[in-house]
Amino acid sequence: PIIPVILAGGQGTRLWPKSRSARPKQFIDLIGETSLFQQTLERVRDAGRYGRPIVITNAEYRFLVAEQAQERGIELGAILLEPVARNTAAAIAASARVALGQDEDAIIHVLPSDHLIPASADYFGAVDNAALAAREGHLVTFGITPEHPETGYGYIAVGEPIGHGAHKVAAFVEKPDAQKAERMLEQGGFTWNSGMFMLPAKIFLAECERLAPEVFVAAKAAVTEAKRDLDFIRLDEANFASSPSISVDYAIFERTDKAAVLPVSFVWSDLGAWDAVWKGHSRDASGNAAAGPVTLSNATNSLVMTEHAHVVLDGLDDVAVIATEDAVFVGRLSQAQNVGAIARSLRANV
Ligand code: GDD
Ligand code: MG
Repeated sequence: PIIPVILAGGQGTRLWPKSRSARPKQFIDLIGETSLFQQTLERVRDAGRYGRPIVITNAEYRFLVAEQAQERGIELGAILLEPVARNTAAAIAASARVALGQDEDAIIHVLPSDHLIPASADYFGAVDNAALAAREGHLVTFGITPEHPETGYGYIAVGEPIGHGAHKVAAFVEKPDAQKAERMLEQGGFTWNSGMFMLPAKIFLAECERLAPEVFVAAKAAVTEAKRDLDFIRLDEANFASSPSISVDYAIFERTDKAAVLPVSFVWSDLGAWDAVWKGHSRDASGNAAAGPVTLSNATNSLVMTEHAHVVLDGLDDVAVIATEDAVFVGRLSQAQNVGAIARSLRANV
């Protein structure tokens, strides 16, 4: 079976004030009745396809993970706890190491816990094809058809076919600037990187050792010297902290020649910032998405989410209003990427 590895350690700062450091976006009911983390767990439920999931998260979120899994009746294989955040390269390397301990030929399905993906035959067909390509030694990415010159994603130049519907990755460009993104869109032949991966654990770790040796050494030692604590595996702090903080996209995928891409057509959305939540939400004829007690008068193309206070929007276009119990954000929906930096500076000053 494929071993799911669920990345649940992100901070989700761009979705402030709903996403907070004590309960980041993957653990809140943003869209739908359950959290995005729980929706991710549901997608790996099929025991015919998957082994028990490994969840890797910050030590601070251990009870959120355990409780939300239990609430859905899902048994986890392991909960790995990071003493400090070192981004996705170290998190995936540590998880791959643990998976190898269970199965020398482990194929891991790395999943962000903050994506909106309706489970469909298309989706599971892609998962199975990716696993076949991974068994042949490829580090498989899932390629999404790009819609606009997004600068928050990785871009993949699709190369020669290698079977199972997959292709070699001819080039991988993580988070290009706007000009470069526009050029790639015009040129064609590129997909977005979905952020999910299907990896033969052993080969991934060999590439990690070759291309990002400091990450490899830190993650390996952090697992070897990890401590069990109830249901949790606490990665060794001194070792894990010695890893550089770098994402797997920069550390491995921009540099490896073992990457493959499986172009996919299932519905996918990264709920990264408020503009993406607006897109993923149902909207009225004037393009407004609203949740909670909201009154709209001459408002267009806006997102209003409020938990308690009645919010009235009059005569405004392209606005995000997010009201929680103790904080309210008002800003341009089209400049939703700014929220991350604001939230981080608030955190630093509180
Ligand atoms: N455990 C753990 N530890 N998880 C983490 C950490 C960490 O230190 N940092 C981030 N994560 C989790 C996040 O919660 C998220 O589920 C996932 O890893 C990806 O991290 P993001 O920070 O959301 O990455 P991104 O959105 O900027 O970019 C990635 O995803 C894009 C698509 O959504 C890249 O893979 C891009 O290439 C890709 O296009
Ligand atoms: Mg993301």
